[in-house]
Amino acid sequence: MQHGGSHRGSRVATNARLRSPRRPSPIESVIEHRIGNVTLQLTVGDITNQLDIDAVVNAANAELRPGGGVAGAIHRAAGPGLAEECAPLAPIAPGECVITAGYGLPNPHVIHCLGPVYGSDEPADKLLSNCYRGALELADHKQLSSIAFPAISTGAFGYPAAEAAGVALRTISEVATRLEKVTVVRMVLYSQGDLEIHTEVLDELHTD
Ligand code: APR
Repeated sequence: MQHGGSHRGSRVATNARLRSPRRPSPIESVIEHRIGNVTLQLTVGDITNQLDIDAVVNAANAELRPGGGVAGAIHRAAGPGLAEECAPLAPIAPGECVITAGYGLPNPHVIHCLGPVYGSDEPADKLLSNCYRGALELADHKQLSSIAFPAISTGAFGYPAAEAAGVALRTISEVATRLEKVTVVRMVLYSQGDLEIHTEVLDELHTD
């Protein structure tokens, strides 16, 4: 496989058996795509169970409070110290990111991003792209080598999964070529259906 700043790469499927995301375990099935020095991974799992990752991304609310979905899971796993560190950093605006420690999570850092509410925060694609770009640049600036994202805005915020996948994967592909420290970018999807959507979008992006 050729690297050297190229967007092109190959996908590698390992261990085709996928389990319910309700019983997450570390990487069971991974789609990989190489972009320059970065390995982009797509997998099914729980964002709170990414044992080998420096920073996990929180699909946060503006107040950086626990909430539901990803935010609830991250705060439950991290413990109350996370909410205490978050409080003075809030509020954040759509598209913004802030970084904290990981507390009880297996990861040293959490990067909290506020995605757009679909149909309300505009332009939604730009704001969602800002989340991915900002988190990647923040991780790189902090000299981190790996980062894992959930599918920001695709739950309570209602962003259609395929559209959001296009924004996410296009942004990651663009930014990856200029990252200096980050070498692993993982998208942690919560269902096999979401993995399939992201895999199709990735194929479309990189086959021309
Ligand atoms: N790990 C990985 N992905 C998860 C997890 C998890 N533990 N829990 C949920 N997901 C998936 C959802 O299925 C969805 O595809 O993450 C995606 C984002 O869902 P949300 O967490 O609802 O995030 P978002 O749409 O950005 O909405 C944020 O939700 O709970 C509130 O306080 C939060 O107000 C904020 C809003």
